[in-house]
Amino acid sequence: MAGASVHGHWSGRLAFMFAAIGSAVGLGNIWRFPYVTGTSGGGAFVLIYIACLALVALPILIAEIAIGRKGQRSAVNSFRDVAKAEGRSELWRYVGWLGVIAAFMLLTFYSVIAGWAMSYFTDTVMGNLTAISESTSAPRFNALLADPLRLAIWHGIFMGITVFIVARGIQGGLEKAVTFMMPALFAILAFLVVYSAINGDFMAGVKFMFAVDFSKITTKVVIAAVGQAFFSLSLASGIMATYGAYLPRDVNIPRAAVIITLADTGVALLAGLAIFPLVFLHGLAPASGPGLIFVTLPLAFADMTGGMIFGGLFFLLLVFAAMTSSISLLEPIVSYLEEHHGWKRARMAMVSGFICWTIGLTTVLSFNVLKGYNPLGMFAQFQGKTIFALTDYTVSNIMLPVGGLLIAIFAGWFVGKKTLSVELDWHDGVLFEIWRLLLRVVAPIALIVVFYNLITS
Ligand code: PHE
Repeated sequence: MAGASVHGHWSGRLAFMFAAIGSAVGLGNIWRFPYVTGTSGGGAFVLIYIACLALVALPILIAEIAIGRKGQRSAVNSFRDVAKAEGRSELWRYVGWLGVIAAFMLLTFYSVIAGWAMSYFTDTVMGNLTAISESTSAPRFNALLADPLRLAIWHGIFMGITVFIVARGIQGGLEKAVTFMMPALFAILAFLVVYSAINGDFMAGVKFMFAVDFSKITTKVVIAAVGQAFFSLSLASGIMATYGAYLPRDVNIPRAAVIITLADTGVALLAGLAIFPLVFLHGLAPASGPGLIFVTLPLAFADMTGGMIFGGLFFLLLVFAAMTSSISLLEPIVSYLEEHHGWKRARMAMVSGFICWTIGLTTVLSFNVLKGYNPLGMFAQFQGKTIFALTDYTVSNIMLPVGGLLIAIFAGWFVGKKTLSVELDWHDGVLFEIWRLLLRVVAPIALIVVFYNLITS
């Protein structure tokens, strides 16, 4: 592609891996995976989630990173430039756009949930949760939700820090933030799993997550699993393409994508294994919704020696994990604006962050003042969904998978085989052919069948 990237390159392979894993691992693994597993009935959901990762999400992840590195630009322009170079319509740039818009919408509510984690962090280290019990944990969480001002302030603090880091630019901001907290998060989750295995109802938790009741596989469960896979891998949101552009040429993309997927899935499964044994120990409802980890984990921290420190550390790391994801959510839009309008990065970050925060206030209100308001309640698919639930559903279960479908079709059918094998440095026959088959046939058909069922159900 003509011209070098305007963004500079990652200082190396490791920096890219940390940033990509930093984007993937976040609230999606620790907050969203357990609660959606809970509301989607457990084992059947987990099975489809894993199948979807291997057969649909991973092949698309490889394609998305490759397009970014080939294009060397922000997501929108990389799609356009690669299409142009292949003699295809420039309209493909709208795939990039879809991702950028999805990322922006996602950040509006992501920051609100991250605010919950910040609030629980301060409560834990201040010792406010040491006496929490089965009967007070849920009411405490509900009291937080009932307070729009508190939610809006935490949401603002989180967004403010995100903007600050993005404003400082790629090398200074991103790399430093992601390189030290990943291993710590992994370690603390592993410790929590051990704690749950000893103190919780481990067998009940394992059974809930892995015993598959095939009669529970409904369209709703499949859509939830597809959405979770895309959300958790930061897929089709322009992020992996944007980061791919910073990736040095000598890095092997398929290998990197496999590592990202394994790390991301590992964290999600660990989070589930830490939480469900405690849910069953305390007789809580697995299907209780978005508050699941905030109601469950403080009970464990209150119960263990050193729980204040340990719990504080956990919520701090959760906030960090969310931060490395939120940085990546703001990055695509900022890098696009930087490229196009030449506006100062810092100013762009501030303006977009502020707009995002403002829209996020609708999510804040979904938990209190507008709790009973279901904007699209007249449609069966959206029944009972608040603004928050609707935004999440639209982004995670519709926009990202549609974007993924388009990426699969674009890379599978409209980009030359030669271009791909060169970009991926993937010349040995079998694996490359399997990947292309998944990308061209399996993933598109799976996604189309899912959407067909969604529309007709
Ligand atoms: N993958 C992130 C998480 O699991 C969320 C995210 C989605 C980030 C899409 C970027 C793009 O928390």
